[in-house]
Amino acid sequence: MGLNEMSFDNEIFPFKTNTLYCGDNLKILRDFNKTHKESIDLIYIDPPFSSNDIYTAGKKEKEIFNDIWKGKYKHYIEWMKERIYELYDILDNTGSFYLHCDYHVNAHLRILCDELFRPNNFRNEIIWHYKNKVGRPTRKFLSDYDTILFYSKSDDYTFNPQFVEIDNPLTLKRYDKVDKNGKRYKIYHTGGVDRRTYLKPKSMGCIWEINILSANSRERLGYPAQKPESLLELIIKASSNEGNTILDAFGGSGTTLKVAKDLNRNWIGIEYDPENCETIANRMDYPYKNIIGYDYQKTRKDIIGHEYEEYVANVLGGRLNPKRFRGDNGIDLCVYHHEKYGKNIPTQVKSTRINKNHIILLADAIEKDEKKVGFIVGIGGIIKSAIDEIVITKTDKNITIIHFDKKNLDIMSPKGVIEDKKIWDYYKK
Ligand SMILES: C[S@@+](CC[C@H](N)C(=O)[O-])C[C@H]1O[C@@H](n2cnc3c(N)ncnc32)[C@H](O)[C@@H]1O
Repeated sequence: MGLNEMSFDNEIFPFKTNTLYCGDNLKILRDFNKTHKESIDLIYIDPPFSSNDIYTAGKKEKEIFNDIWKGKYKHYIEWMKERIYELYDILDNTGSFYLHCDYHVNAHLRILCDELFRPNNFRNEIIWHYKNKVGRPTRKFLSDYDTILFYSKSDDYTFNPQFVEIDNPLTLKRYDKVDKNGKRYKIYHTGGVDRRTYLKPKSMGCIWEINILSANSRERLGYPAQKPESLLELIIKASSNEGNTILDAFGGSGTTLKVAKDLNRNWIGIEYDPENCETIANRMDYPYKNIIGYDYQKTRKDIIGHEYEEYVANVLGGRLNPKRFRGDNGIDLCVYHHEKYGKNIPTQVKSTRINKNHIILLADAIEKDEKKVGFIVGIGGIIKSAIDEIVITKTDKNITIIHFDKKNLDIMSPKGVIEDKKIWDYYKK
């Protein structure tokens, strides 16, 4: 798994509550521990589960996070160990730690955490059972639960018991009265007077029946691993009080942070993907400029670039080059089919005005590809020296480069085939 390029490799991340950090949690937690050991009351983490999957969102299956590991468990567990050790150090002596995982790694993580927290501080194995999960029949039972391992750091830890409504119809029939506060009771007669006996709430057990977010859930943000707020509400209410500080070092879409804030707790979020940080910030009403480790200018520029490539591919009916993020000789190359110019036309998309250098690089790529035509798409026009370079490329190499711009993408698209003459008229304007 790659590290976030934007983490402050040589700078120290300052410890601040009610703050979102963008970067690798290992580096950030190490920095926190230099000055703020034992400062957190409750930690919840929902790390990648080693599920050997890539999580995507939306019709275009944009990658949200990658959970594929070399060497399977060994590498994953080493990776987690470093982080859980840092989390242990930042956790207050009276604090609690919740580790969300599933059947892929729950056994491995349990052993790791038992060693660190010691078995006597293991409090519960919570089973989050989601009844609404559906799946096709396979050669095993449907996995319809996650595991949440709950540890405290010592014997002296906050725990506010949680209760569940009793729904047994026979019990409800016996306790058939409801007072003005909504509490159920029954009447019994003793010594000639009527007395009330209230129905005692049932203590919450370890199997939590909470649905996964459905496609039309109001909470849903389109982030694939988003957990329900009610799940985090239970954990936060049970293991913290107002004013306590809660840390989530694998922020995702920010469910923990949002619920912590709503319940008047202080919060700290860490997430390495800048776009996920934006999702969190939007959800929390938190300004992008206050995300520590996040470079607004750089990220927005990259995102606009990638979004624009997708937009161009849609308009021109093109196929995006999967290598385009890896900087293919500095050229973002897309390939299209054109009725007039043929198949697989190298296309460069720039979210800037086109300059001479863009033309030179594209001409080289076209030549290498042994093609005769290429498209270049920009935003904000083309400068004179680039037009001159297009003419030189045509005369010297017999390569035609056709320029499109956002404004005229539709009229100049291969669907509405443009004649060469019109292109030259366009350049002359
Ligand atoms: C399973 S998701 C968390 C989902 C979250 N609980 C929610 O409800 O939205 C895990 C997240 O951890 C992030 N992540 C993975 N490795 C990380 C690292 N080293 N530092 C910080 N965040 C990381 C991923 O980008 C991903 O968004």
